[in-house]
Amino acid sequence: MELQSKTPEYISISPRDRSHDISESLGRDWFDNHPFKTAWFNAMSLTFPLGEKFFIDSVRHYAPRITDPKLQSELRGFCGQEGFHRREHERYNETLCSLRGYDLDYLEGRLARNIARGKKLLRPRQQLALTAAFEHITAIMAEAALNSDEPMFNHGDPAMKALWDWHAAEEMEHKSVAFDVYRAIGGNEKMRKSALRQASWLLLLDVMVGVVHMLRRDGKLWRFGIWRDGWNFLFSREGILRRIWPSYRDYFRDGFHPWQRDTQALLEQWTAAQSESVLPA
Ligand SMILES: [Fe+2]
Ligand SMILES: [Fe+2]
Repeated sequence: MELQSKTPEYISISPRDRSHDISESLGRDWFDNHPFKTAWFNAMSLTFPLGEKFFIDSVRHYAPRITDPKLQSELRGFCGQEGFHRREHERYNETLCSLRGYDLDYLEGRLARNIARGKKLLRPRQQLALTAAFEHITAIMAEAALNSDEPMFNHGDPAMKALWDWHAAEEMEHKSVAFDVYRAIGGNEKMRKSALRQASWLLLLDVMVGVVHMLRRDGKLWRFGIWRDGWNFLFSREGILRRIWPSYRDYFRDGFHPWQRDTQALLEQWTAAQSESVLPA
């Protein structure tokens, strides 16, 4: 039987049921003490509960077509990990909105309508292609988060770093599950690539809607300096989007596979840091 899973043998996709106490951090600008940068990640968090539900649904739809027991078990691991992420980000988002006066219904309502429209108009195969594309985006963001030279969330409160790094590590572990399912059902390269363009615009738009809403509620929407810093944070030479650009573009190569970027060392580092933090003093 042909192996459908291309996740390396040494990677195990097992959900970690973590709960994070972040309520103190969420009340302040927890990333770099900066309103835009904090709003950027908070707005990303706002997209996760509904977004990850969509990912789970679109992958699960094809579960009966998966014949490789390894990919079957990874698919279950994927759903379990995304399930815990959803739960933690739901809590994150509710606390954030109640502490800072953001409108959760407005922010999630918009996304919920878009997802409902997508589910109605797109074929299951297109939904899966979108999921694989979003998973590529989260995987390369995860790589930047756990990067050993300059871990992204070293600029954040330690409690927030713990949550985001946990999420990043699991995104990295399951980065090729949706992709392998897409390949297993015969998904073609053209649809796969165009899904990444769509996913990128959808996510960018959604996050920016969130950022504008949050800065407006914070009374900081029209401060030029905040937007200038935000621009540099995203697009300058050291900016996060500039940094992930080369790995982002890899997806458009024929024959691309997420594990062609072997990120095991970053995972090992994160795992080692976990056990250090629970060792007795
Ligand atoms: Fe996730
Ligand atoms: Fe994911």
